[in-house]
Amino acid sequence: NIPSLRERNIALVGFMGVGKSTIGERLSKKLYRDFIDIDQTIEETYGMAIPDIFQEKGEKEFRRIEKDISIDYCKNKRLKILSLGGGAYAQDDIREACMKYCIVISLHLTWDSWKDRLNLIIDSRPVLHNKSMEEIEELFQKRQSTYDVNSFQVTTDQMDADEVADEIVRLLK
Ligand code: S3P
Repeated sequence: NIPSLRERNIALVGFMGVGKSTIGERLSKKLYRDFIDIDQTIEETYGMAIPDIFQEKGEKEFRRIEKDISIDYCKNKRLKILSLGGGAYAQDDIREACMKYCIVISLHLTWDSWKDRLNLIIDSRPVLHNKSMEEIEELFQKRQSTYDVNSFQVTTDQMDADEVADEIVRLLK
């Protein structure tokens, strides 16, 4: 059973640090829907921070956990706003569940704007550790094309979180 648009969760996807969680919270207030940050849910479920999960269980296990939790929330019929981890939509099974059960919003930043945020986010993002700037840019560009599959795209460079949330509300009307 594929839900109609009004019956779907809203899934925010995009690269690490584009503002999915902040924008999701704003959107939650505007649309009167609960907001679920999937990364935070994983951390609460396992009682561990994400870098510790990567270190102690490995990335493969993190991706398995991420897949189970993300798909569960995508399918959940209580309408919510979901913020997915930056690598989630790159997993085929998660992307398929999102496309079927959610309205997907892809949040963009240009590389130039994003790279100024790197210092703020790198410590808690193990995927970015031990990579050169060139390698990070390559990952950024490669992921971008994935986020744009079957989604509405919003470029956020010139907007604050509240304006982006307003723009998403407009898109959904
Ligand atoms: C990841 C993004 C992170 C988190 C994990 C892996 C990725 O989420 O899920 O560190 O592979 O892009 P955010 O996009 O919320 O930072």
